[in-house]
Amino acid sequence: MHIDIITVVPGLLEGPFAHSILKRAEDKGLASIRVINLRDYSTSKQKQVDDYAFGGGAGMVMSIEPIARCIEALQKERTYDEIIYMTPDGARFDQPMANALSLNQNLLILCGHYKGVDERVRERFITKEISIGDYVLSGGELAAAVVADALIRLIPGVLNDETSALTDSFQDGLLAPPVYTRPAEYDGMKVPEVLLSGHEAKINEWRFEASVRRTQERRPDLLRDNQIGKSDAESYKK
Ligand code: ADE
Repeated sequence: MHIDIITVVPGLLEGPFAHSILKRAEDKGLASIRVINLRDYSTSKQKQVDDYAFGGGAGMVMSIEPIARCIEALQKERTYDEIIYMTPDGARFDQPMANALSLNQNLLILCGHYKGVDERVRERFITKEISIGDYVLSGGELAAAVVADALIRLIPGVLNDETSALTDSFQDGLLAPPVYTRPAEYDGMKVPEVLLSGHEAKINEWRFEASVRRTQERRPDLLRDNQIGKSDAESYKK
């Protein structure tokens, strides 16, 4: 998978992709991420990419021309499956959306700043608008990093244990069960006996029950929205 990210603050995206799983995915050749500085596509001397809003009001608006030049130049190199705009008024990002997007080969992500982009950018170029939650960030960069991380870790081979993305919270509409490691007892706190038993079927049953209970307690909305989780959960209710 290749992800191009257009931003006016490239420095904000240096950290997340230089480390850990994302770096390993790049090193293994499973994913590549390129950060593009929108200012490189400005024709003004000051490398300006924004302007005052027509109609007045506080805050600057990102202009269509540099964005159009940038996107059109990138489109000469590759065909994008989606051109995504990160914005608080987009569709809420969740695991099913991450799963679907992770199947793509080429994604382009535009990070908004200031008061956002000229609406005509959205009409002309954008195929998907994503919000990572109901709060406003100072720009789309951190949101783009969240989306890129969630997608790249789903690519087969990126995680060491390939099954581990499948057992994440949300993958089956349930929260993940509690996990433990050594020591088996800490200051009187014992790891549930079944996890030490080596009995795989019993362990799976315990994990499923614990998942359902955790979801009922913390996120009952997931059970309401998820028919599989719901019917399974009914049979495990105490
Ligand atoms: N840009 C600013 N806030 C955002 C959010 N919540 N999600 C995505 N992009 C954003």
